Amino acid sequence: QSNSHLKHKRVLISAGGTRERIDSVRYITNDSSGKMGYALAKAAAYAGATVTLVSTIHNLPVPLGVELVTVQSALEMQQAIESRFDQLDVVIMAAAVSDYRPAQSLAYKIKKNSKDDLTELKLVKNPDILAGLGQKKQHQFLVGFAAETSNLEKYALTKLADKHVDMIVANDVSQANIGFNSDDNAVTVLTNTQKSIRLAQAAKPLIAQKLIELISQHI
Ligand code: PMT
Repeated sequence: QSNSHLKHKRVLISAGGTRERIDSVRYITNDSSGKMGYALAKAAAYAGATVTLVSTIHNLPVPLGVELVTVQSALEMQQAIESRFDQLDVVIMAAAVSDYRPAQSLAYKIKKNSKDDLTELKLVKNPDILAGLGQKKQHQFLVGFAAETSNLEKYALTKLADKHVDMIVANDVSQANIGFNSDDNAVTVLTNTQKSIRLAQAAKPLIAQKLIELISQHI
């Protein structure tokens, strides 16, 4: 524990796939299980940080000492993170934020053959939460993930630059045994100042521990 630079630092971690409502019983989401984000929260708390987990997932055990804030949509997640941002030292965006949401969401269940009957869904773009934080950041250390199915490092480096983050964790999500909803992960960590670091396939808690160590070395 404890000789980590994260000791007493305020760390916010996002986890899970956002749910974008179509109506009161239907939504758009993705395969993110929250496992990576929860593992990061546990590792950060173990390193002595004060941890807030902003998550769409609430059926996983909350690590000891971690404050859980549950949200559903990208807009709710953005609000939960931005309202805390000034007080934070580190933000790690492990959540899979939906890039789109339905243009309208109805407060009741859409009925087949009614006036609301749905054969086409109009979507609008969600804000990019991480890019917004990149614009606002002062002292905060920002960590993004990049979920890619091709050109892993190239696209991840573009996200590092475009979103003005300090570290990007490139995650190949084309393989079933790592990435979304699996127990293991394998990632490449990229920063502006160091050459890339490959973390070979391992259980998410182990990957999380190594990521927290790397973040601690950078702040
Ligand atoms: O939850 P698990 O099942 O354990 O799976 C873990 C994971 C694969 C979801 C995780 O490791 C991961 O890669 N998370 C990022 C998924 C993602 O949305 O990647 P992206 O490349 O689309 O987004 C890049 C970064 O911008 C991410 O940090 C994302 O949180 C953030 N983002 C994206 C879109 C958006 N509108 N707002 C954002 O803040």
